[in-house]
Amino acid sequence: MKILGIESSCDETAVAIIDSGKILSSLIATQHDVHERFGGVVPELASRRHMENIVPLVSGALQEASMDLDDIEGIAVTNAPGLVGSLLVGISMAKGIAYSKNLPLIGVNHLEGHLNAAMLEFGNVPTPYVGLVVSGGHTSLYFVEGFGKYRLLGATRDDAAGEAFDKVAKLLELGYPGGPAIDKVSVNGNAKAFSFTKPQFSNRTLKGVTPREFDFSFSGIKTAVLHLYKKQNDLSKKFISDLAASFQESVAKILVDQLIAAAKTSGAEAVVISGGVAANRRLRSLLKERADTEKLKSFIPSMEFCTDNAAMIAYIGERRLELGDKSDFTLNAVGNQEIGI
Ligand code: KG4
Ligand code: ZN
Repeated sequence: MKILGIESSCDETAVAIIDSGKILSSLIATQHDVHERFGGVVPELASRRHMENIVPLVSGALQEASMDLDDIEGIAVTNAPGLVGSLLVGISMAKGIAYSKNLPLIGVNHLEGHLNAAMLEFGNVPTPYVGLVVSGGHTSLYFVEGFGKYRLLGATRDDAAGEAFDKVAKLLELGYPGGPAIDKVSVNGNAKAFSFTKPQFSNRTLKGVTPREFDFSFSGIKTAVLHLYKKQNDLSKKFISDLAASFQESVAKILVDQLIAAAKTSGAEAVVISGGVAANRRLRSLLKERADTEKLKSFIPSMEFCTDNAAMIAYIGERRLELGDKSDFTLNAVGNQEIGI
């Protein structure tokens, strides 16, 4: 089925067309130039830029796939979670096309898109698998029994891993977005220069949130980086790259340790990562190494499928439509929405 997917949950506007899981076109307009000087995404500016980009991207995606709207059989759009103003731009566009062309509309959860992004590249991933979605807003670990059958095994109790990367990069004045900047500068750093204590958890229910076995925490490491930085008189290039590399090593280790432990405990056949932070080179190499040692199959998508894209949204839309599942025109933006709980 020819599905047009739209993604506008944060600071990338993306449109893709897929047919039977095959990508016919996939366009992304980043907004890094807009948010760079603020060191983070400014929601109002993000929505405005989505509005400017969305129509040219839909036209461009159709052109690249040598199609027009009459060829499209369904419209999939991210409706949660994300910045509400940004999500609304994509949803309004999707509703407009669906209504005028009398096409089915499918609202898609962004996290479900990331969790299945590996399918676009590898065709199939043996189930059950454990998937880690690690992005700017989320760090969530899921047990996946099949399409739509997810169980949340753990999530972050404070900062998302990507958020920690962005905040540490801002502190070290490495620029925005922080993850790629830390990844780059770490190449020249000594990852063993500093060590950070592994987060310790209490199993008490905090602020109504029930703890899970494979939860994460990154705010302690972020604070430890801040203390080291403040204590240092000579902020040399070497100090900065050593600190960045040590931080990255520690985050990568926490993520991989939890992912492997969850896979072994749950009897999963494979491990999968996705989300922006999954583009991190150290995380990717460490996961491959550890999964091989533990005899677990690992599915590590190419960078383009790790970061935000609309192909993963169109993929979910196509699978949902095949199952006879669609949304109605009351579809709305939801800022916070987990899956598998
Ligand atoms: O999935 P994504 O593109 O958008 C969200 O849904 O949040 O993830 C963006 C996050 C940002 O925090 C960014 O700094 C991080 O992914 N990121 C990275 C790398 N590339 C992007 N973090 C670490 N290393 C990278 N190479
Ligand atoms: Zn994302």
